[in-house]
Amino acid sequence: MIKKEQLYEGKAKKVFKTDDKERLIVEYKDDATAFNGLKKGTIAGKGIINNKMSNLLMQRLEKFGVPTHFVKELSDRETLVKRVSIVPLEVIVRNISAGSFSKKYGVEEGIVFKKPTIEFSYKNDSLADPLLNEDHAIALGLATAEEIELIKKYSFKINDVLKAFWLECGITLVDFKLEFGKLFDGTIVLADEISPDTCRLWDTKTGEKLDKDRFRRDLGGVEGAYAEVMKRLTAHI
Ligand code: TMP
Repeated sequence: MIKKEQLYEGKAKKVFKTDDKERLIVEYKDDATAFNGLKKGTIAGKGIINNKMSNLLMQRLEKFGVPTHFVKELSDRETLVKRVSIVPLEVIVRNISAGSFSKKYGVEEGIVFKKPTIEFSYKNDSLADPLLNEDHAIALGLATAEEIELIKKYSFKINDVLKAFWLECGITLVDFKLEFGKLFDGTIVLADEISPDTCRLWDTKTGEKLDKDRFRRDLGGVEGAYAEVMKRLTAHI
């Protein structure tokens, strides 16, 4: 596979074309941003951890019937993926109150929900990713009703699989963000990444935050938290 010109640079990854029009190479960076890019920093080694973690979790999800963009890990920071057009929706699943949910509804963090919630925001940096409902997404032509149904089904399945896996690692899956894409033939697959950048992961015993909130909230110990999550994952996967 030949790595060709850069197609796109995002906040945490670069995307390159290859000699196959249906395959891309993603390269994970150590750059970290928060609050729609207002806060910027670096988390040393994050790109290597997120690349490997996301790949291992996506391979696990495939086994449970969730199609993903993953093809092959090429190096510490590079992965070959299926080329998709990203559905411009950020899909957020929550098991426990935290973050913007707690802020918006004026509740403390840590309330365990009887059943998981799902919400969508419009993936659009210049609008700061506004929340929207399913009808709005359809009205804006971001996805069809059938695609949204499938995305919801996959998202709850992903929650079941990942929640159970992280529990084996002594980690509570609080919430996470997913992105889906469409293959050339229109098939919906999980894309982007699953990592401590995109999930809230709390130590089950101590409640310690082991994810990007350590960076967002200046809690310190960011690199150590990512390394700890990776260590537990490789011991249990
Ligand atoms: P929130 O509570 O800030 O809405 O975040 C919910 C989850 O989504 C949390 O696990 C962090 C993740 N997330 C992203 O991956 N990217 C983002 O841009 C935001 C705002 C949240």
